[in-house]
Amino acid sequence: MTQDELKALVGRAALAYVVPGEVVGVGTGSTVNCFIDALADSGLRVAGAVSSSTKSTERLVARGIRVLEAGEVSSLPVYIDGADEIDPRGHMIKGGGAALTREKIVADLAARFVCIADESKRVPVLGGFPLPVEVIAMATAQVTRRFAALGGTATLRPGVLTDNGHPLLDVRGLSITDPLAMEAEINQWPGVVTCGIFARHRAGVCLLGTASGVQTLVF
Ligand code: 5RP
Repeated sequence: MTQDELKALVGRAALAYVVPGEVVGVGTGSTVNCFIDALADSGLRVAGAVSSSTKSTERLVARGIRVLEAGEVSSLPVYIDGADEIDPRGHMIKGGGAALTREKIVADLAARFVCIADESKRVPVLGGFPLPVEVIAMATAQVTRRFAALGGTATLRPGVLTDNGHPLLDVRGLSITDPLAMEAEINQWPGVVTCGIFARHRAGVCLLGTASGVQTLVF
């Protein structure tokens, strides 16, 4: 199977976690696009979706799914999103699509994070994928120096501003052996909006697309 077919497979598999009649949290990315299409095609009736990006909102609306603001709900039964890397304990790197801050906000509303990914995203230790970090523009140089002190090389993602209007750093060379501690450390540096380590908001379930079908990992 191609990577696109694996993404479509897990996008459809995620429908089993959607609670009919409730609002669903929706992430961002090519795998989530497959989920949005599967949801629209399924005939499953949801009360709407809370979206993590302009791109997902546009796709949801185009497919006839009502989009609610995060502030309109106090909780969500489930949040469905992809990942750039996922480790053996369900910790993830996210933000390849620049939506990490809103993704973490919507994930925080949800009782359960269901990660959908093809098997290439599974890694023993996070950090092979450059870590996305959304920053306030004036702090870019300071935050870059802090990463250098940790052995990381941060570069601005060219031509990209997040939906919140901020630049993004991509940090190479980190070996994230303690994701919880590193997430907490980075998030308290002045000027960091959000770092793309999802450890406090790790996946509860991962639906992994493999050549032999969907593998369900429960953390
Ligand atoms: C967007 C993300 C995505 O979930 C992540 O980049 C995976 O994307 P894809 O499903 O296209 O591989 O974090 O900010």
